[in-house]
Amino acid sequence: MPKMMVAGNWKMNASSEATTELLQGLLNGQDALPAGVEMVVFPPLPYLAQAQQMLQASGIAYGAQNASEHAKGAYTGEVSTSMLADFAVRYVLVGHSERRSIYGESDATVAAKYMAVQAAGMVPVLCIGETLAQREAGETLSVVNAQVQAVLDAAGAESLANAVVAYEPVWAIGTGLTATPEQAQEVHAAIRAHVAAANAEVAAGLQILYGGSVSPATAAELFAQQDIDGGLVGGASLDAQSFLAIGQAAQAQLAI
Ligand code: PGA
Repeated sequence: MPKMMVAGNWKMNASSEATTELLQGLLNGQDALPAGVEMVVFPPLPYLAQAQQMLQASGIAYGAQNASEHAKGAYTGEVSTSMLADFAVRYVLVGHSERRSIYGESDATVAAKYMAVQAAGMVPVLCIGETLAQREAGETLSVVNAQVQAVLDAAGAESLANAVVAYEPVWAIGTGLTATPEQAQEVHAAIRAHVAAANAEVAAGLQILYGGSVSPATAAELFAQQDIDGGLVGGASLDAQSFLAIGQAAQAQLAI
């Protein structure tokens, strides 16, 4: 696993034309592309073929925002992990808070998706995070640890050697409210400690991204925290220059 990762979650944005434009913008920024930072884009599923075609010879990876936990069959509207593998997808987001809250994905469903992604040879990016009410009730660490524990119980701590975790406080997503570097670091350290209790070696190598209104203005300070290994970026990933600037902020940490 590379030391830093900057991943762009486009959510349900873009069009065929906008995808070409955005990916071309990233490719044009080749000189500004951070060496040593894993840059990943997560376009909507219909544009995966475009991503594959445009990015396959580049250093930019691409992934899917969701996948079914089922292998195949009568699941209208769903997309399986083997279908994603057909497009040489490397990463799949699982358990994004919008999937959990809007589509009712439980910890058990998220764990099943996580395992399906790994079984198909791809890397799950496990998203976890607390709501504002949970933070205000002092439940942040217990909530995120329980979300991690659901995966540890189902797949084992060793499975995290082939996964990425993204801590995204729900109250910071799309709101312009970024967690302070100290708030984020506290949770990242707690997640790493929780995993370390099960497997210290895996915990030490685990990549934990921060997500929630990451921007070129906030990235450097966040990435400077000891347990923050990059970012999962929503809004700011829809602009090639912003996304590249966030990649540069990650690159700067590698030089330190
Ligand atoms: P945001 O989204 O950067 O727009 O807050 C982050 C995410 O939901 O992954």
